[in-house]
Amino acid sequence: MGRIAVAPSGRESPFGEDEIIVSKTDLKGRITYANDVFLRVSAYSLNEVVGAPHSIIRHPEMPRCVFKLFWDTIAAGKEIFAYVLNMASNGDHYWVFAHVTPTFDASGNAVGYHSNRRKPDEAQIAAIAPLYRSLREMEQGARGRKDGMREASERLNSILAEKGVAYDRFVFSL
Ligand SMILES: Cc1cc2nc3c(=O)[nH]c(=O)nc-3n(C[C@H](O)[C@H](O)[C@H](O)COP(=O)(O)O)c2cc1C
Repeated sequence: MGRIAVAPSGRESPFGEDEIIVSKTDLKGRITYANDVFLRVSAYSLNEVVGAPHSIIRHPEMPRCVFKLFWDTIAAGKEIFAYVLNMASNGDHYWVFAHVTPTFDASGNAVGYHSNRRKPDEAQIAAIAPLYRSLREMEQGARGRKDGMREASERLNSILAEKGVAYDRFVFSL
């Protein structure tokens, strides 16, 4: 926290196929834990991320409708698999394939969320990137932010309906 917002650098922040980027959050998406791989790839220190909203690594090219679907799913107590483009503190980007799960206490109440991320392969990125770009353009081209979000969400949902699958099945078919 406390850093000045940076623009995307166009460079990739590398991470290995054998590595897993891990973070945990509270129910509001504030980071409570990040592993060493998370910190290295995002170029933040533990102090900077703990307590910060997870949007600290949001990349400006990510469509909002994907995060809406993401939050609707996990807030309903379900897991989700999602491709996410992230941005490090220096503007470098990195694609992840995330598996996000709610964490429940002994009484079955959700107490937080947990994300494990692996490096997607190039073919998967090549399939998802144009879809995300068109959703983002739709969000930005609309008359207002609300309209844009609604139109892009409808587009994403109609793509899923066309294929007859939920988002997690869709991402596995890529
Ligand atoms: C466990 C967990 C992991 C998350 N991981 C990411 C992530 O890697 N990148 C990201 O941009 N948002 C991530 N988010 C979503 C953010 O909380 C946020 O919704 C998103 O960055 C969009 O920002 P906004 O809600 O301020 O528009 C995560 C949320 C949770 C609960």
